[in-house]
Amino acid sequence: MLLKVKNLTRMFAVVVLIMGATMPVAHADDDEDEGRQPAVSNAKWVSECGACHVAYPPRYLPAESWRAIMSGLDKHFGSNAGLDAASANEITAFLEKNADTRKHETLAKPLLRITETRWFKSEHREVAAHNWKNPKVKSRANCGACHTKAESGDFNEDNVKIPK
Ligand code: HEC
Ligand code: HEC
Repeated sequence: MLLKVKNLTRMFAVVVLIMGATMPVAHADDDEDEGRQPAVSNAKWVSECGACHVAYPPRYLPAESWRAIMSGLDKHFGSNAGLDAASANEITAFLEKNADTRKHETLAKPLLRITETRWFKSEHREVAAHNWKNPKVKSRANCGACHTKAESGDFNEDNVKIPK
């Protein structure tokens, strides 16, 4: 009898251990976790890629997207964001190192916009059309219009305020 109780206790301990080991991994894959990851930074990236818009966190696009963006900076969404080779190389390495590594659709051409990714559409499915069209928002790429702490890389849902 005593032996059985001991075995049960051991089994319970094993179950708890397995849960503890697998749960954080499953959670990291969860879209709901998007806004809570620690922000990474690089001085060159902040000054060059934060000049015209918020410096978009590297974790929001896969490495191939960042490579495509970085190799076309002279024709960047209608702007010239061209850089000297040394800065471009440093920023590309930083973006690649911290890129989104989750499984995503294989596309013929990598996406150049965070706002066109599946996770972005899913996270924002409850944002109404009139909110996107609000002149205070103007563009989906204008993250800071709603994410009040976007400048510091904080996209946590607790700090979202859609302008009225
Ligand atoms: C000269 C101004 C300028 C600079 C500098 C600049 N960008 Fe942009 N970027 C733009 C404009 C304009 C858009 C389009 C914004 C819109 O659609 O509302 C854009 C859009 C983007 C988008 C797509 C946003 C989305 O999801 O719709 C990404 C990603 C991006 N930029 C990355 C970068 C990176 C990386 C750098 C630094 C190497 C950089 N940008 C520097 C002007 C700039
Ligand atoms: C019109 C307002 C608006 C704009 C612009 C906007 N978002 Fe959001 N975002 C939201 C709302 C609303 C949510 C959902 C918050 C919730 O679930 O309570 C959200 C959720 C998110 C989340 C998930 C947060 C979490 O804690 O799970 C991320 C990440 C995110 N947005 C990133 C971005 C990025 C990057 C941009 C710009 C390229 C952007 N958003 C532009 C309103 C906006």
